Amino acid sequence: MRVPDFELRRFAGPVVHTEQLDGVRVAHLTDQHVGRVTSHDVQVGAVELTNAQEPDIVVLSGDFVAHSQEFLDQLVDVIGRFEAPVFGVLGNHDHWSGADEVRWALRKGGAEVLDNAWTSIEVKHQRLQIVGLDDAYTGNADLTRATKGLDPRTATIGLSHIAEEADALWDRGVPMVFSGHTHAGQVTLARLHEFILGRVVGHKYVHGLYGTRGGERPGAVYVGAGIGAAVVPVRLGARGRREVAVFELGASIGAFEEHHEEQQPARGRAPSVELRRKRVVEAQQKSAKRRAAARRKGINPFAE
Ligand SMILES: [Fe+2]
Repeated sequence: MRVPDFELRRFAGPVVHTEQLDGVRVAHLTDQHVGRVTSHDVQVGAVELTNAQEPDIVVLSGDFVAHSQEFLDQLVDVIGRFEAPVFGVLGNHDHWSGADEVRWALRKGGAEVLDNAWTSIEVKHQRLQIVGLDDAYTGNADLTRATKGLDPRTATIGLSHIAEEADALWDRGVPMVFSGHTHAGQVTLARLHEFILGRVVGHKYVHGLYGTRGGERPGAVYVGAGIGAAVVPVRLGARGRREVAVFELGASIGAFEEHHEEQQPARGRAPSVELRRKRVVEAQQKSAKRRAAARRKGINPFAE
């Protein structure tokens, strides 16, 4: 099998983790979009590259499918190939295609799905809390529920498909958040992605590392470029290439060379109340349609 080209980017975690953790490696992938547009070789190649890094955990920040429930078996297969424990949150495409069905596939593949919830795991005899915020784009994020009862003295990371939710997570004691959704614009030639996603769509965080990992009020977010595509398979420009990011929690900033420094956010523009309401309705309509289409084709993911 020809393994496709991926960018492998490596970063240190937040400064506070240097006091809490020693050598915990997190691999982050996002926007896998298992489906017609992204080949199975790409999906398997991403998992193999991830496994080769020997991460302690794998975190996935949503958009597992693209437009239908037809590839859920493939999703189960892809998730099942990760060798480390997997944690994930859903994205807008998952809600559009049927959130329960996607969750079911993820769990069947062995992932833990965090729907506005957090969990605590032991990695090399150290405690790590993982907070998962459900998708904000489709109106499913519940910050209070997701962070209720977190232990502020324990090392914590967060997952949110939409990166702009990170600001609120920082305030709730989650210093490092992993996100996706933008695909880094997919086309990043001449930094066009920053113009389109930052100025036109209104994203503050387009691709890569933003915020601050140190200081008195630490808060950083990493927006992954993603693995797959939902509509156009084209990826141009270095930033837009398929990506696996590795975060060394407990490592000091400067201990090794990072792909880029902490970036300043774009100005951004929060969606209006009206737009947010429209997105909720749109998600309900789309999922009902796709669920019906799946049943017509005889797809019943809940059947064994
Ligand atoms: Fe998305």
